[in-house]
Amino acid sequence: MLTLRYMQIGDVTQVVAIDKYSFETPWSARSYVYEVKNSNYSHMVVLALEEEKRVSGWRRWLRPFNGGNGAHRSQIIGYGGLWHLVDEAHISTIATHPQWRGRGLGEVVLAAMIRRALTLNAAYVVLEVRVSNIVAQNLYTKYGFYVVGTKAGYYRDNDEDAYDMRLNLHRDMRPALDERWRALQAKHGFRDLYTESQRPPVVP
Ligand SMILES: CC(C)(COP(=O)(O)OP(=O)(O)OC[C@H]1O[C@@H](n2cnc3c(N)ncnc32)[C@H](O)[C@@H]1OP(=O)(O)O)[C@@H](O)C(=O)NCCC(=O)NCCS
Repeated sequence: MLTLRYMQIGDVTQVVAIDKYSFETPWSARSYVYEVKNSNYSHMVVLALEEEKRVSGWRRWLRPFNGGNGAHRSQIIGYGGLWHLVDEAHISTIATHPQWRGRGLGEVVLAAMIRRALTLNAAYVVLEVRVSNIVAQNLYTKYGFYVVGTKAGYYRDNDEDAYDMRLNLHRDMRPALDERWRALQAKHGFRDLYTESQRPPVVP
């Protein structure tokens, strides 16, 4: 089942593989582990295809003690990073698996982070994007982000400029976003264990 949930340590290997494919300067596995385990400000999300493993024999009898969920195998379809500090929510990363692009799932990840930012009571969402990354810019403008400035030579690999983009959040946006969210859920049939869930506790 397609599931939106907080990123876990067990997801990092797959996330890093997608990251390497998607970015010129990918994050290290260590950075992801830090974001998931140790950062109080970080709300990392994954969209995963989850398959419940068949559990047989005596292990079946342990299922009620494991929350009734059994064991899961997850294929990561997309992921994103959201830092939240007081009024600001900052989208630190977003990507979808190359074989799953163009199906509306990057939109699900972005919409989830906007929704999470709203439930965290952030006042605005910001992000940086390469000036050449038209696909991502289209996705952001679809959700009302607009360019507020340019950071010259922001990307170290080729000195490319970044656009600073921003979306202001208002309580009165909620009904329209909720409606859009329900339409995405109806289209893709995912369960949402992220946008209104508690962040798993950090390890100090
Ligand atoms: C950016 C990214 C996350 C988009 O994910 P995706 O799953 O392909 O996107 P979706 O199918 O959900 O499309 C959502 C919107 O993105 C834009 N978009 C997607 N593919 C596009 C394309 N080939 N050309 C132009 N715009 C495109 C459109 O606005 C689209 O909405 P629409 O279908 O109503 O036109 C994905 O392309 C990716 O992982 N890219 C590499 C990493 C990256 O650049 N991240 C952004 C860093 S700032």
